[in-house]
Amino acid sequence: MSESAHGRRIVLHNRLEERESPFRLAEDARRGLTAETRTMPPKYFYDDRGSRLFEAITRLPEYYQTRAEREILERHADAIVARIRPGVLVEFGSGAAEKTRALLDAMRSAGTLEGYAPLDVSREASQRAAEALIRDYPDLRVEGVIGDFERPHHLPFPGRRRLLAFLGSTIGNFERERSIAFLAGAAAEMSPADGFLIGFDLVKDADTLERAYDDAAGVTAAFNLNLLRVMNRELGADFDLAGFRHRALYDASLQRIEMHLVSTRDQTVHIPAIDLTVQFAEGESIRTELSHKYTRASVDALLRRSGLALCDWFTDERQRFALALARLP
Ligand code: SAH
Ligand code: AVI
Repeated sequence: MSESAHGRRIVLHNRLEERESPFRLAEDARRGLTAETRTMPPKYFYDDRGSRLFEAITRLPEYYQTRAEREILERHADAIVARIRPGVLVEFGSGAAEKTRALLDAMRSAGTLEGYAPLDVSREASQRAAEALIRDYPDLRVEGVIGDFERPHHLPFPGRRRLLAFLGSTIGNFERERSIAFLAGAAAEMSPADGFLIGFDLVKDADTLERAYDDAAGVTAAFNLNLLRVMNRELGADFDLAGFRHRALYDASLQRIEMHLVSTRDQTVHIPAIDLTVQFAEGESIRTELSHKYTRASVDALLRRSGLALCDWFTDERQRFALALARLP
């Protein structure tokens, strides 16, 4: 556990894996880069630089998701809070926790707000977010977890009525089966009075989606390439960032964006920490992220398969993004 200088108002429990730095990167790199389809888990984007790049993405004209979700939250947070009356907001993948404020404001207005429990792999983003929140919410207690939300949670504030939140459509970054396992794990920790608010980016035309993941200013490209910097720094790898380019493609049949880092030439990469040499032919890639897109029907089916029930559905005016409020059936 680490406590900041803010007395007991911020407590961030460190549940990152101790042995490898950061959090099993070496093992994941070995598994991912030696598989037939080369992949890396997207959680490794989010060192301090990656978290800041993601925050820059949320402000891009092409990345409509953050604005659309904020629009929904600002319009419907009071109704969501009135329905659950949560004392505590538990947020998975909380990052900068900016949109979160709409929910905290609604809880404060309803007179229910006691605590906020962010759960994120990025220590830097969580610390910055917690400090900004306690400045603006003088009575708020922040008790969060720095760790992988795919591991068992043991959520803070047990016994309180909780609203769980998983915003930003980060759920879309899981493989389909993993998203069910994740939701089922969260459902197992919920009591019948709790609610779970989940953001879903909706299926739409390929052009809009591909632009959102390949912006003109190149911020998403820098975010994607940041993964190679992380491996160079943490594993002593010698990825040449100029030898890879960002690619984002929408697969309409699988309803998902795939992000890749594509080798621009034949090359060999060494990763001393895991004693691995990887050959890339020109055009070969590492798949770094999936970002699934949803319909109301696919969300309904996903929730049912996870042991949850959809009890409310909110979209932005242009129907680009949705927030689903789920509860135990
Ligand atoms: N909720 C914010 C941030 C979304 S970005 C928003 O909607 O804008 C995704 C966030 O999830 C990042 O803060 C990242 O650090 C975190 N994250 C990604 N994979 C994670 C994992 N496996 N465990 C915990 N946090 C993770
Ligand atoms: C965090 N996650 C929901 C983002 C997404 O849209 O899939 C990550 C991202 N990748 C590229 N741009 C944004």
